[in-house]
Amino acid sequence: MSAEEVAEPRATRAPARPARPAPLAAPMDLAALIADPDTRILVCCGSGGVGKTTTSAALALAAAEAGRTVVVLTIDPARRLAQSLGLVELDNEPRQVDVPGAKGELHAMMLDMKRTFDDVVVAHSTPERAEAILANPFYQSLSSSFSGTQEYMAMEKLGQLRASEQWDLIIVDTPPSRSALDFLDAPNRMSRFLDGPMIRLLTAPARVGGRAGLRFASAGFMFFTKIISKILGGQLLRDISAFVAALDTMFGGFRERATATYELLHRPGTWFVVVATPEPDALREASYFVERLSSEGMPLAGLVLNRTHPPATSALSATRAEGAAEEVTEAGGAGAELAAAALRVHAERMVQAAREQHLADRFTSAHPEVCVRTVPATSGDVHDLEGLRAMGAELTGPDADTPTGTPRTRVLPARRP
Ligand SMILES: Nc1ncnc2c1ncn2[C@@H]1O[C@H](COP(=O)(O)OP(=O)(O)O)[C@@H](O)[C@H]1O
Ligand SMILES: [Mg+2]
Repeated sequence: MSAEEVAEPRATRAPARPARPAPLAAPMDLAALIADPDTRILVCCGSGGVGKTTTSAALALAAAEAGRTVVVLTIDPARRLAQSLGLVELDNEPRQVDVPGAKGELHAMMLDMKRTFDDVVVAHSTPERAEAILANPFYQSLSSSFSGTQEYMAMEKLGQLRASEQWDLIIVDTPPSRSALDFLDAPNRMSRFLDGPMIRLLTAPARVGGRAGLRFASAGFMFFTKIISKILGGQLLRDISAFVAALDTMFGGFRERATATYELLHRPGTWFVVVATPEPDALREASYFVERLSSEGMPLAGLVLNRTHPPATSALSATRAEGAAEEVTEAGGAGAELAAAALRVHAERMVQAAREQHLADRFTSAHPEVCVRTVPATSGDVHDLEGLRAMGAELTGPDADTPTGTPRTRVLPARRP
C-alpha cells in the first residue's frame, strides 16, 4: 500500500469500472450450509490469530441453535472463550455446552495433543509395547513438541469423532500454525518423518538385529552413526531406535489412519471455510490455501473476512470529513473539539475501510469464484455465548441486513461492474 493510496482513499473516487469485470461469486450462505443435514464436517482454516477458533465456535453455536447435534473441536481457545464453553481443563472428550433454548445440541472439546497421540499408540499395540513406547523419552518429546504433531493429532481426533457417529455436524478449528497449509500437510509430514531416511538410517542397526546387523554396516556408516551419536547423544539414539522398532508393527496403522482421515476431507459433506483478516499476510495465506484446496479438489465454502472496519456511513468521504474537521476547529465554539474529533475518527475509518476494500478486491480479482463474507470487528474480544451469537449472526445473517445496508459479502459498497 503506497502512501499516496492511503492519503487519497479509493472510497472517495468514483468507482472505477474494471477493464474486464471479474464475475462476483454469489454470497456465501453459511446459514444454509450449517443447516443442511448433508453437511457433516466444517473445517475452519487460516493463519494464526485471524479468528479461526472464534469462527468455529460461533458457527457451532449457530448450528446447534438451528437444530443440529454439533461438536466443535477447538485447538487453542482463548481462556475466557474456553471458560464460557465450559472447557476448564483439557480432557480430550467433548462436553455438552448448556445453550438455553437451542433446538439442537452443542458439544465442545479442546484438543489434548499428547493424550490423543497416547490413545493412538494404545489402540494400535499390545499393552506391553504401548507401555514401552509411552515411556520412551523420544516418544515423549515427539508427542508433545514435534512440529506438525498438533496438526496431525487434530486430524486424528477428527477421524475419531467422525467414526463415533455421535454428531451430525463436526466443526474443526485448526492449530495456530503460521501457515494454514500445515494442517493439510501434517499426515504426510508425520509419516515421512517416521519413515524417512534419517530415522531409518539412525535405527538401521537396531532393525537388522543388534550385533548381527552391525556386521553388514560399512565402515563409512559406522563412522556416520558415531558422529550422529556424538551430536545427539548415545542415549537419545538408543531411545529413537527402540521407539522406531516398537513402532514398526503399528506403522501400517498410523499411515492408514492418516490416509483415511485425509480422504474424509475429500468426501461430500466436508467443507472448508478459510478465515482471514483484511491484512496482506493473512490474505496471502488465504490465497495459498484456496489454491491448494482447489488443486486437491477439496470443497471450499468461501472466505470469512474477519475483523473488518466498515464506517458508520460511506456518504461522507475521508477528504470531506478532514476538511469539515478543520472548518469546525477554526470556527470554534461549544462542542467544536468533540465534533472535529468525531469527524477525524470517521476520516480514519474511511481510509482504513478503503484499504480493506482494496485488499478484498485484490483477493477477489485473483479468486473471483470464492465467496467472501465479512465480519466486522467488535469493540471487545469475543469470549461468551452472547458474543458468539452476535458473530454467528454476522456469519449467517441475510446478506444485506446490516445497519448501513452494506452487503456483508464485501467490505464497503461493493464495486460491482
Ligand atoms: N470479529 C471480531 N471482532 C473482535 N475480536 C475478534 C473477532 N474475531 C475474533 N476476535 C478476537 O481475536 C482474537 C483471536 O481470535 P481467535 O479465534 O483465537 O484466532 P485464531 O484461532 O485464528 O488464532 C480473540 O481474542 C478473539 O476474541
Ligand atoms: Mg485458534
